[in-house]
Amino acid sequence: MTVGAPLLRLTNVSKTYVGTNALLNISLDVEAGKVLCLLGDNGAGKSTLIKILSGVHAPTAGTIEVNGEPVRFSSPRDASAYGIATVHQFGGTFPLMSVGRSFFVGAEPTKRWGPLRRFDKKLASEIAIREMQSLGITGVTDGRRLVGSLSGGERQALAIARGVYFGASVLILDEPTAALGVKEATHVLRIIMQARQKGIAVVFVTHNVLHAISVGDHFAVLIRGEKADDFRKGERTREQVTDLMAGGEAMAALEAELAEMQAQAHHDTT
Ligand SMILES: Nc1ncnc2c1ncn2[C@@H]1O[C@H](COP(=O)(O)OP(=O)(O)OP(=O)(O)O)[C@@H](O)[C@H]1O
Ligand SMILES: [Mg+2]
Repeated sequence: MTVGAPLLRLTNVSKTYVGTNALLNISLDVEAGKVLCLLGDNGAGKSTLIKILSGVHAPTAGTIEVNGEPVRFSSPRDASAYGIATVHQFGGTFPLMSVGRSFFVGAEPTKRWGPLRRFDKKLASEIAIREMQSLGITGVTDGRRLVGSLSGGERQALAIARGVYFGASVLILDEPTAALGVKEATHVLRIIMQARQKGIAVVFVTHNVLHAISVGDHFAVLIRGEKADDFRKGERTREQVTDLMAGGEAMAALEAELAEMQAQAHHDTT
């Protein structure tokens, strides 16, 4: 461990899929007790970056360091051994599994030792519910409920609670608020702040500039696989960030088009 080194550092990371350069020369630091927001339009490379950080894909080039030591993740298990917990954009939860069971997938508490060792459902349920409640999720009181019956926000909270409970030092969330209503999204943002307060480094992937600005300490914007900008809280306005993302340009073009259509309609009726 190198004193003063960031928890996680990417240097010149690139990833090429057959036919696509998904990431090009990305360098980023992830710091303890801070929220790093990764912004970018569809296809910008955000999930690819997350997959590299979480050991799903190996980078084509570049290095990853944890506490100043170079590492190579050959599987998600390797990344989680370094305390990196990831909630992926799609899947990651098991709709037909109970809340208690899904909380402990891969790390099950057992009632007794030896060949009769079996999963302690009651304890698992109690812990899962208690941990969700500690994040302010009070609507789920029975750990036997199926994950598929939870709301989107509750599902995100379950996944985050799991990461926190198992001692994650880096929590990576790929679009956790994308499918949520305003209230639920706010709740997830609050939980992100709670994780940050515990000293966890949070990597928060989102399209939503408002969500990012409300919780982020630092920000990186990806455009077509490249880091287009990198800044700290307060260094850019919301408009500047929106304009930077391809969505900004597209919205400006749409607004201009609509204005023209309106002018045309006005012209036609007079
Ligand atoms: N397994 C794959 N094989 C080939 N190309 C891929 C693969 N996964 C992603 N890509 C391509 O890499 C680029 C980046 O994709 P990625 O999923 O990282 O984008 P993203 O920023 O997460 O987008 P979104 O906001 O839509 O989730 C896209 O052009 C995508 O089509
Ligand atoms: Mg994605």
